Amino acid sequence: MDHSWVVFVVVMAIVTIILCRSWKIRGRLRSPPLPPGTLGWPFIGETLEFISCAYTARPESFMDKRRVKFGKVFKSHIFGSPTIVSTDAEVNRFVLQSDARVFVPSYPRSLTELMGKSSILSINGSLQRRMHGLIGAFFKSPDLKAQITHDMQNHVKQSMNGWNDDQLIYMQDETKNIAFQILVKALISLDPGEEIEFLKHQFQEFIAGLISLPINLPGTRLYKSLQAKKRMVKLVHKIIQERRESNMGRTPRDVVDVLLNDGSEQLTDELISENMIDLMIPGEDSVPVLMTLAIKYITDCPLALQQLMEENMKLKRRKDQLGEPLCWSDYMSLSFTQNVITETLRMGNIIIGVMRKAMKDVKIKGYTIPKGWCVFTYFRSVHLDEHLYEGPYKFNPWRWQERDIGSCTFTPFGGGQRLCPGLDLARLEASIFLHHFVTNFTWEADEDSIVNFPTKSPVPLHTCGVRQGHATDHTKAISAIRVVDV
Ligand code: HEM
Repeated sequence: MDHSWVVFVVVMAIVTIILCRSWKIRGRLRSPPLPPGTLGWPFIGETLEFISCAYTARPESFMDKRRVKFGKVFKSHIFGSPTIVSTDAEVNRFVLQSDARVFVPSYPRSLTELMGKSSILSINGSLQRRMHGLIGAFFKSPDLKAQITHDMQNHVKQSMNGWNDDQLIYMQDETKNIAFQILVKALISLDPGEEIEFLKHQFQEFIAGLISLPINLPGTRLYKSLQAKKRMVKLVHKIIQERRESNMGRTPRDVVDVLLNDGSEQLTDELISENMIDLMIPGEDSVPVLMTLAIKYITDCPLALQQLMEENMKLKRRKDQLGEPLCWSDYMSLSFTQNVITETLRMGNIIIGVMRKAMKDVKIKGYTIPKGWCVFTYFRSVHLDEHLYEGPYKFNPWRWQERDIGSCTFTPFGGGQRLCPGLDLARLEASIFLHHFVTNFTWEADEDSIVNFPTKSPVPLHTCGVRQGHATDHTKAISAIRVVDV
């Protein structure tokens, strides 16, 4: 038998394998390099330095130091993973716009354990898009906006009516109370009462574990938070079951109705209940922080406060003359008020950035982000970049008269497929709060400071107190705002 054919085939196979390997290696060699940077200590990486900077008034100093050394995109090792940190607006836009084939959300373990596997913040693909679409459409609906405006006005008036002369008012606590109740109503239609008090109490326990050691053993912070979440999920589950039995298919009144009416098999009762709890987080954190910071910034900038007050008083007088209540489009028509909110979002950096994991090697701006690495798109550095914003640490709402809020240099609500579906709601709530506050009160501020860390979630934490003083031409007056470390 002639073996020469067999030998020929074997040789060709070996040559092909060698060629393929060398092409692959050459391909890899040709790949752009990793961004420069340092990975720090084994295991802990640079986490300790990141956290110690986060405790200061300038948390971005961790990034600033590395930006000078390595440029706007650099590698590091934080929260247990090798991470590419991006403080570059274009890279951030690319990451935000990419879908789950390229990047998926990736957060520290304590956070993902508490949010659960089915949280909208962690899931990907069609289920995430479906939920995002349903929730976003509902939050944009004129009916909901009308309801929120009505409820918000009532809650704000009720809270403010309870402020007595010379009483110290903690602004962040007040705004938390209001925003939490508003959001819970929009999510599951709970009105003030025992159940909401129970939820509020459990929620404090839950949210305390968002940044904690990822150890789930009896007695640990994470364990306690998970137990609190279980108790809340049980309550929401009961509400869902009652809905299923009574009024399926009705015109949606809240987010639970919207998700139940969709009828998709993927949207199980467990998934909906768990997500309702996660969706309450902005009511306890982001929205109250936005309102509190806006009050702080305008207090520190008398010119802005004056203009804000004039704009809102003008609207109030007009509506009083017409004998009409304010509707949501009235609030949105207040252009300077909107600029105050936008500038608060820029300077306040309520969400400092978002975290993703690369699903494959990604080449961008001359660098490779290797598969499996985390990417931290750090919005704060972009929002405070002196090349993008003149006098970045100065509260200047007037800068927004000429500027576009839709550019990649301004991303307080993220972007792409995961752009915050609650952004209109957050702006509306802040506008209503500011309107009632500046048209009914004057105040003086105690000395204060913003505490950025430790955060219950990636937001600054601070408590702001307002004390009433002597009445002026407004119905009531407040003589002190004090920001107290928590
Ligand atoms: C000042 C207030 C708020 C800020 C600064 C804020 C910011 C953000 C940011 C940056 C993201 C993107 C997260 C990512 O890309 O991984 C996000 C997502 C989200 N936000 Fe907000 N948010 C606020 C208020 C709200 C409110 C009131 C709601 C209503 C429940 C809400 C619901 C959501 C949801 C459901 C997502 C996840 C979207 C998805 O992954 O598909 N947010 N938010």
